[in-house]
Amino acid sequence: MDTSANSELLPAQDPFSAEATDPLPCFHAWIGEARVLEPNDPDAMALATATSTGLPSVRMVLLKETAADGAFVFYTNAESRKGLEIRANPHAALCFHWKSLRRQIRIEGPLTEVSPLQADAYFRTRARGSQLGALASDQSRPLLNRAILETRAAEVASRYPEKIPRPPHWTGFAVHARTIEFWRSRPDRLHDRMLYTRTPQGWQRTFLYP
Ligand SMILES: Cc1cc2nc3c(=O)[nH]c(=O)nc-3n(C[C@H](O)[C@H](O)[C@H](O)COP(=O)(O)O)c2cc1C
Repeated sequence: MDTSANSELLPAQDPFSAEATDPLPCFHAWIGEARVLEPNDPDAMALATATSTGLPSVRMVLLKETAADGAFVFYTNAESRKGLEIRANPHAALCFHWKSLRRQIRIEGPLTEVSPLQADAYFRTRARGSQLGALASDQSRPLLNRAILETRAAEVASRYPEKIPRPPHWTGFAVHARTIEFWRSRPDRLHDRMLYTRTPQGWQRTFLYP
C-alpha cells in the first residue's frame, strides 16, 4: 500500500507523472493539499542559511508568497542571525515536511531581498500585534529578561496609536529555486524522489534513489 497522501491530482500536478514538466504546479498542488489536511502550519518550512565560511544554521519560517518564476518569499528581520548570514552568503535551502501526508519538498537557490514596496504591502496585511512585535524585537539579539521586551512593545504601541510603520530592517527575502525535489513515502522505504533542476532549456527531471 502507498503510505503517502491519497490524492486526486491532475497528471501535470503530480511530480512523478511523466506529464509533469514544471515543478511549480506540482508544488502548488502539494501545498494546497497540505493546507487542507495538515493540522498545523502547512506553510512552515525549514530555512537553512550559512555563513561566508559555510557554517550552516537552520530554523523554521513561514512561506508567505510565491511567484510564477519560482520565487519563494518569507519575511523576517534582516538584522537577525539568518539576515546577517544571508547578507554574507545569499544562498538558501528550504525544506517542507508535511507529516500527515508523508511528503517532503526541498528547494535550493540564491536569495534576493524583496523591494521596499513589496515589504510595505505585506507588512500592511499583518495584524497590529505582529507589526508591534516586528518593531519591538531585536530578533536574535540577547534579551536580559522578558519584561524588557514587553515594555518595548508597550512603548511602540503608545508611540504609534494608529498606523505602525514598517521598520526598514523588517523585510522579505525570495529564494529563487534552482532545484526543487519532491519526496513521497512508499512501502519498505523504497520512497519516490524526483529532482527538478532549472536549465536554460527549462526544467530537467531526474529520478533519485531514495
Ligand atoms: C512554525 C514557525 C514559523 C516561524 N515563522 C517565522 C517567520 O516567518 N519569520 C521569522 O523571522 N521567524 C519565524 N519563526 C521563528 C524562527 O524559527 C527563528 O526563531 C527566528 O526567525 C530567529 O532565527 P535566527 O536567529 O536564525 O535569525 C518561526 C518559527 C516557527 C516554529
